[in-house]
Amino acid sequence: MSARFITFEGGEGSGKSTQIALLSARLKQASIDHLLTREPGGAPAADLIRALLVTGDTGRWDGVSEALLHFAARREHLLHAVWPALAAGRWVVCDRFADSTMAYQGHGHGLGRAPIEQLYRIAVGDFRPDLTLILDIDPAVGLRRAAGRHGDEDRYERMDMAFHVRLREGFRAIAQAEPARCRLIDANRPREAVAADIWRAVAGAFSLPA
Ligand SMILES: Nc1ncnc2c1ncn2[C@@H]1O[C@H](COP(=O)(O)OP(=O)(O)O)[C@@H](O)[C@H]1O
Ligand SMILES: [Mg+2]
Repeated sequence: MSARFITFEGGEGSGKSTQIALLSARLKQASIDHLLTREPGGAPAADLIRALLVTGDTGRWDGVSEALLHFAARREHLLHAVWPALAAGRWVVCDRFADSTMAYQGHGHGLGRAPIEQLYRIAVGDFRPDLTLILDIDPAVGLRRAAGRHGDEDRYERMDMAFHVRLREGFRAIAQAEPARCRLIDANRPREAVAADIWRAVAGAFSLPA
């Protein structure tokens, strides 16, 4: 079976990390060797850039600069982790990818679609995820969940509510524009119900036994 690239998207506290762990267990049961990774980060140089993006003052970057940093980290991640794994026949499950840049910088910061699409061409080219699960949740609920975590990687969480509302709309617009690649999942339900929908989507997309 050919290697697949699956991405998880959604706002803060939507349950991406939780659901990726559950999907990983199901893939293991199905004997599908896979790499779990995340953005920004996932490779040494990309992790250096991650620290610049997820900590510090909310206003530390201009929106365009922020998008450039995300795509620089993404290219390092693709070159040194994602593409080698796929070439070796492993599946890759990634916590956030380019849809987050479209949602956060394109919609949240208001850069619009065109500059994000241009940067995508330069940094990523024609490569695309085979399947994207977009976890959709009211940002007030997601942020409340996220507040229960600890750590200092909360720069985006600290942005204002209007920003989080815009990025949710951004994700929903992506799901609507690309129905073949994306599945919009109602994430405001118990973990098991969300996981069941996700497994149905993955099994259906890649003809795995349900
Ligand atoms: N379906 C759910 N219902 C309630 N709480 C959840 C659910 N899924 C995850 N959580 C909790 O919400 C918090 C954020 O979840 P997490 O998976 O870290 O989200 P993300 O990675 O999208 O930011 C965690 O404390 C997690 O245990
Ligand atoms: Mg997470």
